[in-house]
Formats: sequence, structure tokens, C-alpha cells
Amino acid sequence: MVSKDLLPAALPESLERRRRPVGALGALLLRRKPARASVPANASAAAADTPKLVARGLSKHYGDFVALHPTDLDIKGGEFVTLLGASGSGKTTLLQTVCGLVPPTAGQLLIDGVDHTHTPARNRSMGVVFQNYALFPQMTVSENVAFALDVRRVPSAEIRRRVGDALELVGLASFAARYPRELSGGQQQRVALARCFVYQPSLILMDEPLGALDRKLRETLQIEIKRLHRQTGATFLFVTHDQEEALALSDRICLMHAGRVEQFGTPAQLYEAPRTLLAAQFIGISNVLHGTVDASGTSLVTADGGIPVTGAEPGAALAAVIRPEHARISDGPALLSGKVNEIIYAGSESRVLIELASGLVVTVRRTAELAHPTIGQHVGITWAPDRVRLLPRS
Ligand SMILES: Nc1ncnc2c1ncn2[C@@H]1O[C@H](COP(=O)(O)OP(=O)(O)OP(=O)(O)O)[C@@H](O)[C@H]1O
Ligand SMILES: [Mg+2]
Repeated sequence: MVSKDLLPAALPESLERRRRPVGALGALLLRRKPARASVPANASAAAADTPKLVARGLSKHYGDFVALHPTDLDIKGGEFVTLLGASGSGKTTLLQTVCGLVPPTAGQLLIDGVDHTHTPARNRSMGVVFQNYALFPQMTVSENVAFALDVRRVPSAEIRRRVGDALELVGLASFAARYPRELSGGQQQRVALARCFVYQPSLILMDEPLGALDRKLRETLQIEIKRLHRQTGATFLFVTHDQEEALALSDRICLMHAGRVEQFGTPAQLYEAPRTLLAAQFIGISNVLHGTVDASGTSLVTADGGIPVTGAEPGAALAAVIRPEHARISDGPALLSGKVNEIIYAGSESRVLIELASGLVVTVRRTAELAHPTIGQHVGITWAPDRVRLLPRS
């Protein structure tokens, strides 16, 4: 039987998600309307310009260890924002302070302009989906999806309608009577998404919901999440350590490193205009040449020779970042030269790995139109100088 007490109890259990028997993505459904929040009378008018989610100086310490340094976020209604970063960078900590599972050490959290810093998790206006958070194994798909509506005594006709709509949304209408053990991993994940969407939360938090899936299924569900985002208009805060997933899904990416926001911007801003070497190396492939700017300010002197730069301060120690698609193999004059030591075929294009005299290996994208180098061949490498991004060495 579904007991009302189960719902709050499900909260701390979600933290132990890796030990749960049914290895599926799960949804933790929190109340849509803040229980005690004073919602302004003209809420819809206010909602148009009030950010959905604002963090001001939000931080988390565990004893002396700072898992999250003071962090500011400003997320608009309907945005899809991804927290991206290496393991241990503070993504889950930030997400859990937002959903109320982890109390912040300092700072403030506003949802729809209302202070929710100290609101209990289950009274926050959001749906949460965790990786590996179990579906209830003894309940059918439709019972799993209905759970949160059931405990809140939503009339049964309405529950049937909303569960039907949610299962339709994730393409599982014909699986309503099955048990989780009778579903594939991807189908279980979709049930968890339906459990989240049935509650129609306007703010949805997802912590690596696709982490356990193979590449093909991940890509399918990425498209599905993107579609659900468009259809529901909800605001998403999504966690991943997979940069391709972040680039594919996000309106904006919040790149995290060592408990801090390294850069927060659109995928194009992060890819094309990384502000730090760490951002440049985390997103996409970057060729990085370290050097010192010469006295004229027009050349970066590297271990493999001088490369042309503009707008650099003479004497500055900098890193030049060149993306593989901006570099090409040249028969004529070249900026660098080296020996081809690997060619990686990837369908419509290949990546050619060229070892320079210093031992640095540079990656160049080769499309079908360009000449075929061979392994061991000495080649020149060139690029348009304005494609070089100069960054401080970290
Ligand atoms: N309860 C805790 N007590 C002490 N340290 C913690 C606690 N929870 C997290 N941390 C530490 O805080 C840091 C950030 O952890 P967090 O779980 O936010 O990382 P993450 O970016 O989500 O990593 P992953 O990609 O591995 O999930 C880590 O160094 C972690 O060990
Ligand atoms: Mg995590």
C-alpha cells in the first residue's frame, strides 16, 4: 500500500541511490506550489521578468572542506541549464542545495523571486530525477507514476488522466501495467521521467539521469529530454560530466571546477570563447601551445617556434589554443610542422595527430576534400591567425 509517510522517507533514501536494488533513474517528486511561500497576487505578470532560480553566494562546507565556494546563479524561466564538470567539482552539491537535500552553509536561494533558502525539500516547487534512484519494484509503471499524486489525494479520475498523459509523453502508454523488472533500462528511465513530469513541476532538477546508459540509448533519451523541455516549458537544471551531452542539450552551461563556477555561458560561448585554459580543455578538443610573447607583441615563442599573435603584451606568458577544425595540413607555407603519428577515422571526417619536435601532439581535423596524409609523413600545419585564442596559463 502507498502510505503518505513514504514520500518524505523517500528523500534521504535518494542519497543512497547507488545501493538500491532496481538500478533505474528515479524521480523524487516535490510539491509544485511552495507550501508557505507568499506568492505575489500578480504572480504571472511578475513571473515574466522574475528569474526562475537565483542563487546568491550559495556555499557548502563540510568541516574545513569547501565543496561549494560562494556561487551566484541566475536562471530564467524555461531555460535549460547544465552543470558540467569533472568528478568532485561540486555539481551534485550545488544541485542538492537547490533542491533542499543539503542545507547551504551560507547564501540565499530564490525561486520565482521568493526566498526558499530554508524551505524543506518537499515543500519546494520542483521535480527531481536522480541517477539510479529506484522505481518502486512492487508497483506497476502506472502506480509508480501515480505515486506522488496518490499520496496527495488527487481525485482518482484526475490521476488516471495525468498518468496517461505522462506515459504518453514519454512513449510508454502501452507499458502501464508492467513492473519495473519487465522493462529495459531505458524504459525504466522513461518511467522515472514520467514520474517527474506527471507532477508538472515548473522547475526540474536532474543529476546525471543518463549516466548508466549506453551511448545509443543516451542519445535517444537526450532527444526525448530536449523534446520534453520544449513541450513542458519547464526550467531545467541538469547535471552531467559529459561535455557532448551538455553541448547538445543546454541553453547555457555552468562549467564547474573545484567547487567554483569556472564559466557560465551558452554552449557557443564556452566552445568558441573559453575564458580559461581549463574551460578550453574541458569542452571539445584543444591544441594548447605554451609560450612567451616576443618584444614586438606579434609572436608567441613556443618550444616549436614562433606563432603569430595579435594584441598580446610583450613578455606575457600565455597559452595559444587552436581547435582542430581551425587547423589544416598544408602543402605550402606552414606555421608549424611535424610528423603524422595517427589518423583516426570518424565517418565524415578524420582526425590527424601530428607530433611536433617538442613531442607535443597536435590534432588537426581532416575532411574528405583534403589530401590524405600517411603515417610517418612530415607535414606542415597552418591556420588563420585570428582563430587562435590566447589565454593566461593556468
Ligand atoms: N557529505 C559529504 N561530506 C564530505 N564531503 C563531501 C560530502 N558530499 C560531497 N563531498 C565532497 O564535496 C566535493 C563535491 O562533491 P559532489 O558530489 O558535489 O561532486 P560532483 O561534481 O557531483 O562529482 P561526481 O561527478 O563524481 O558526481 C567532493 O570532493 C566530495 O568528496
Ligand atoms: Mg555528482
